[in-house]
Amino acid sequence: MSNERDTVLHTWCVQLDWNAPTIIGGAGARLFTADGRSILDMSSLAECSNLGHQHPAVVRAIRAQAEKLCFVTSAWGAEPRARLAEKLLEKSGFDGGRVFFTLGGADANEHAVKFARQASKKGIGRIISRDRSYHGASYAAMALSGDARTASQASPAMFGVVHVPPPYAYRCPFGTTTDDECGRAAARLVGRVIDTHGAETVAAVLMEPNAGTNGIVAPDTFWPQLRRETSERGVFLIADEVMSGFGRCGEWFAWQRHGLEARPDLMTLAKGLTGAHVPLGAVVLSAEVSRALEPQMLMTGLTYSGHPLACAAGLAALESYENEALIARSRSLGGEMFARLKAMQAKHAAIGDVRGGHGLFAVVELVRDRASRTPLAPWDWMHSLLRELLGEAMEAGVSFGARGNLLLLAPPLVIDEGELADALDLLDRLLGQLTAKLAATGSPLR
Ligand SMILES: Cc1ncc(COP(=O)(O)O)c(C=O)c1O
Repeated sequence: MSNERDTVLHTWCVQLDWNAPTIIGGAGARLFTADGRSILDMSSLAECSNLGHQHPAVVRAIRAQAEKLCFVTSAWGAEPRARLAEKLLEKSGFDGGRVFFTLGGADANEHAVKFARQASKKGIGRIISRDRSYHGASYAAMALSGDARTASQASPAMFGVVHVPPPYAYRCPFGTTTDDECGRAAARLVGRVIDTHGAETVAAVLMEPNAGTNGIVAPDTFWPQLRRETSERGVFLIADEVMSGFGRCGEWFAWQRHGLEARPDLMTLAKGLTGAHVPLGAVVLSAEVSRALEPQMLMTGLTYSGHPLACAAGLAALESYENEALIARSRSLGGEMFARLKAMQAKHAAIGDVRGGHGLFAVVELVRDRASRTPLAPWDWMHSLLRELLGEAMEAGVSFGARGNLLLLAPPLVIDEGELADALDLLDRLLGQLTAKLAATGSPLR
C-alpha cells in the first residue's frame, strides 16, 4: 500500500513528525486501520462525525443521488438543495429566511461576514469576534479567529476584525467570581466596544454561542446578553455553529437553549451538517437579512455551492438526527459523561476544570497546580505527559482529542453506552497516572 507520508501535506503538524494510522473503514463510533486495528473515536475525528462513521442512511442517499445526478451549477435549481434549505430553515426556526451553501466552515464564516456587510449597508463594516476562538484556516477566517495561530498568519485589522476577550469563566478576563457574571461581563464589553467604534461602523459580531474547539464553554448568561447588546445597537449577530450545531451541545443549534429571543441574525454550519460524510457548509440568514439582500446583486459565488451529492447527504443526515432522536440522546449521554468527568476531577488533582455537559461535548483542563490554576502547558503547546496519555489511549484502542492543556471529548452521538463507559474508565485510569507522574516532577498539585 502506498504511504502518503512523503507525498501529502498534512494539516496542523510538522510534516516530518507525521505518523498517523491509515483508516480504511468505519462503523458507528469505530474506525478501522489498514493494519487491522479498531479504534474507538472519542472526538468524532475533527468534532464533525456526529452520526458516526459510514452512517447507512447517509451512504445510501449519496449512492442514490450519484446515480441520478452528481452535479448541477448553483445558478440552476437542484431538488436536494431545495429540500435541504427548507429543512434547515424549519429546524433552526429561521422562518422566511434563506440558506447559502458553502464547502465547509471557513467559507461559511467568510460568507456570513460578506452578507452581514452587504445587508447592513455599512460598507466594509467592522466585525467583532473573540480571543480564543476558531473560525477556520482561510485568511479572513483566520483573522476572525482569536487563535494562537492567527498572529503568524493573518492580521485581524486588515480584515476589519476587532477581537475582544472571551467568557472564559475558569480564568475570567474580567476578574469576576461566578460563571454567570463572567458571561454577562464578556457580553457587556461587546456592547461597549460597539459604542466605542460607533454602531454605524460595526456590521456584525461573530461568535461561537456555547462551545468551540479552543475549549471555551460560554456560561449560560453570555449568549442572551450578547443578543440584547447587539439588538439594542442595530448590529447583526452571527452564530458560528460549525462545531456546536447538530446536537453537539444538546440542541439542534446551541443558541436554541436560550429560546427564540436569542436567535442570531445569521448562523454558520458545516461538520455535522452531513456528519462529515461529504464536505458541505451553510450560512442560514434571517428573514430580515434575506429581505435586505434580495433586491441587491449578490456579490459572491462558488462553483460547488449546494452540490447535489452534498445536499443529498445533508438531507439524509438531518433525517437521521430526527429519526434516531440523536439530539435528545446527546443531551442524556452528555449529562452522564459530564458527571463521570466531574467525579474524575474530584479524584485527580491535575484536573483543574471540567466544562460542557449540555450534550456530548466536554473539556477537561489540566493544571500543574489547582490553587494557582497554572496550566499544565502554555496554550497551544502540548505537554509530554498529555502526549503520553494520548499515545497510551491509542495503544488501548481509543482516540481522544486534545489541544494544549485541554482534552476535548466529543464522541459521535451514536456511540454505544458501554463503549462510552469503557473509554471513560480508561481515561480515569490514565488521568490518575498522569497526576502521579506530574507529582513526581515536583508540581504542587494543591
Ligand atoms: C467553530 C468552528 N468554526 C469554523 C471551523 C472551520 O471549519 P472548516 O475546517 O470546515 O473550514 C471550525 C473547524 O474546526 C470550527 O470548529
